[in-house]
Amino acid sequence: MEYVCTKCGARVDVATMQPACSCGGLFELDFEPPVWKDSRIHRETWSQFRYRDFMALDGNTWERVSMGEGLTPIIPFDENVLFKMDYMMPTLSFKDRGAATLVAHMVAIGVKKCVQDSSGNAGNSVAAYCAKAGIECEIFVPEGTSPKKIDMIRAHGAKCHVVEGSRDHCADVCRSKVREEGAYYANHVYNPFFYEGMKCYIYETFEQLHRIPSNIVIPLGNGTLFIGAVKALEHLEKSGVICHFPNIIAYQSELCDPIYQAVKEGLEVPAKVKAQPTLAEGIAIGEPMRGAEILDMIRRHNIKVVTSPEDRIMEARLAIARRGIYCEHTTAANYAAYLKYCELYGPTPDTLITMCGAGLKSDH
Ligand SMILES: Cc1ncc(COP(=O)(O)O)c(C=O)c1O
Ligand SMILES: [Zn+2]
Repeated sequence: MEYVCTKCGARVDVATMQPACSCGGLFELDFEPPVWKDSRIHRETWSQFRYRDFMALDGNTWERVSMGEGLTPIIPFDENVLFKMDYMMPTLSFKDRGAATLVAHMVAIGVKKCVQDSSGNAGNSVAAYCAKAGIECEIFVPEGTSPKKIDMIRAHGAKCHVVEGSRDHCADVCRSKVREEGAYYANHVYNPFFYEGMKCYIYETFEQLHRIPSNIVIPLGNGTLFIGAVKALEHLEKSGVICHFPNIIAYQSELCDPIYQAVKEGLEVPAKVKAQPTLAEGIAIGEPMRGAEILDMIRRHNIKVVTSPEDRIMEARLAIARRGIYCEHTTAANYAAYLKYCELYGPTPDTLITMCGAGLKSDH
């Protein structure tokens, strides 16, 4: 299997230890999944790897790292909203979908040691799956990251560095380590295998409901779920099993909104913004590396981008908790963004919202 550079088109074997093309462009996988058929779901596999026929995987290494990720319930929240309970995963966040798939690839190509930067959840997932796979791991998180996420990373045996400054600066510090020391960059934004796992969010929804809801709310930080979901929906549409692309409602924090501003200004790359601290730590990304790719998808599918009001996040978290679900702040921002969308565009029934991080992770 090969990567293709999104900038210069160079082809590189996926066994490469380089995080990106020598021209600086990010990789994507040269992989076209076969036409979707329900009969190709491996129903005896109780994890997202039941969709393995539609995922780019190198061999069966997923069997060695899988901890039953995926297969999360979809439950009604009210008459308009369904929640997909994606924090019901081994490390209590949706990033396990991508991390399991990425670490399976790392096992396949013989990685022994890796580094990663994260707002906490992706780092947690990579640390846990590396622990399972016996890969040494070092995680960089920005200051202010929820202490419970840091505790979890360390519990898995990974080194965790807390870097002063913004989330974007933390990524820069980690990337200079990758450049200087040649460490393997187990990163959810750079590595295309991560998205192969995120695609399963949609495959699973389709298997569970036998349809795709009319509206899907997706957070947009670096856009790993966003990109994975769009890819999977394009696959289902191309396979002829869905005839309408759903209305995707992507949201950013109103305090860090480079994609929202780019859409407003008609830009093809993320707008330059000054990221301010937000309760929604998971989406505090001022410079999304795949921003141009995301904006292209937004134009292609007429995707709506809204901002989540900071002063409504705690209110939303409480409203959700009062109905029995305790989610993290960034996840409450999903619901706050949905309510904002309803204010702007009117009642929006048949909406799927992801509950992607557990509440106990952001209690501090
Ligand atoms: C709880 C939560 N929600 C949303 C996101 C945003 O995901 P992405 O950066 O892939 O868009 C994150 C990222 O870490 C997160 O932890
Ligand atoms: Zn290139």
